[in-house]
Amino acid sequence: MWPDRRLIDLFRTEFPIVLAPMAGAMDAELVIAAAQGGALGSLPCALLSVEKAREQVNVIRQRVSAPLNMNFFCHRTVAADPAREAAWKQRLAPFYREYGLDPAAPINAANRAPFDAAMCDLVEELKPEIASFHFGLPDAALLARVKSAGCKVMSSATTVKEAIWLEEHGADIVIAQGAEAGGHRGMFLTENIGEQPGTFALVPQVVDAVKVPVVAAGGIADGRGIAAAFALGAAGAQIGTAYLRCPESKVFAPARTVLAQARDDSTVITNVLTGRPARAVVNRVMREIGAVWPDAPPFPHAATGLAPLKAAAEKQGKVDFTSLWAGQAVRLGREMPAAELTRALAGAALARLSRLAG
Ligand SMILES: Cc1cc2nc3c(=O)[nH]c(=O)nc-3n(C[C@H](O)[C@H](O)[C@H](O)COP(=O)(O)O)c2cc1C
Repeated sequence: MWPDRRLIDLFRTEFPIVLAPMAGAMDAELVIAAAQGGALGSLPCALLSVEKAREQVNVIRQRVSAPLNMNFFCHRTVAADPAREAAWKQRLAPFYREYGLDPAAPINAANRAPFDAAMCDLVEELKPEIASFHFGLPDAALLARVKSAGCKVMSSATTVKEAIWLEEHGADIVIAQGAEAGGHRGMFLTENIGEQPGTFALVPQVVDAVKVPVVAAGGIADGRGIAAAFALGAAGAQIGTAYLRCPESKVFAPARTVLAQARDDSTVITNVLTGRPARAVVNRVMREIGAVWPDAPPFPHAATGLAPLKAAAEKQGKVDFTSLWAGQAVRLGREMPAAELTRALAGAALARLSRLAG
């Protein structure tokens, strides 16, 4: 009944729907629930230690018999620049004072580490059916090991040029991530946010440019969006924001309230939360210092300066410094168990596709 079965055959899932990996917003619970509903569950590992990632995968394997995607960041590490860090702290100093914090106190180093040999050992040990990457691909030797472990490899492209690069460097599936998407832009061959195409423009052009199956991502939150992705030539959809309000996500209560009230114009692309462009609902720090600050420390160091503020504000139930990652279709999100949501999304997409065919 699906117009394109390539992903279903590759993933061996019931539906051509991928629960997007969402670092910081979810763990094994959401993966299990979405997989039980028939989607490909993705475990975000960017913020996890090797031990924690192993523990999470074991929980998933014990609770559900379904294919699994392990997701990693593969950015190039940039050493912290003391002058930029100091300027950033200076910029944040009024907030530190307001919360009674000492801007000069040392902070633990940023914890968003790129995929490395130790994580690769873990992939070889656990053999997830799929491994997906954000910000390009790991270097050739590591990628060869991932593929030898039997994983199919996916990565996000935000332009046609990136999609071609990913295919040429070994991706088995390309995720076309349009500008509507929540969370970090997967961009890795450009730094120009202004050039980033939206999903509707990006997907058909990526489909024309590569031979591997394309997964559409960004702003897809209901059956209409999934049907549109197929109409544009995609073989499936990766969906993040629409799952954020499921009871199995790890979004804390005040952030859930913000997401429930957000509208089509509530999100913007910002670099001040981590140092890399990402789409989020506007929070206080973005509002007061501006969503884009050219001198913000490079990824992930901007997050380090915000960490004590985030912790102090969250203790008071405030999201002033919390990364409220979400895409432009946040308004379409529903508060519903993830298995049920997955089946509802698939059912609505199939109904829409058959109506359009008739
Ligand atoms: C809260 C949140 C966290 C995200 N974290 C990751 C991540 O850890 N790894 C990744 O590859 N993509 C991440 N993304 C991006 C998603 O993979 C995907 O591109 C996006 O969710 C699709 O757009 P949508 O949110 O409009 O559905 C994140 C997105 C959100 C909303």
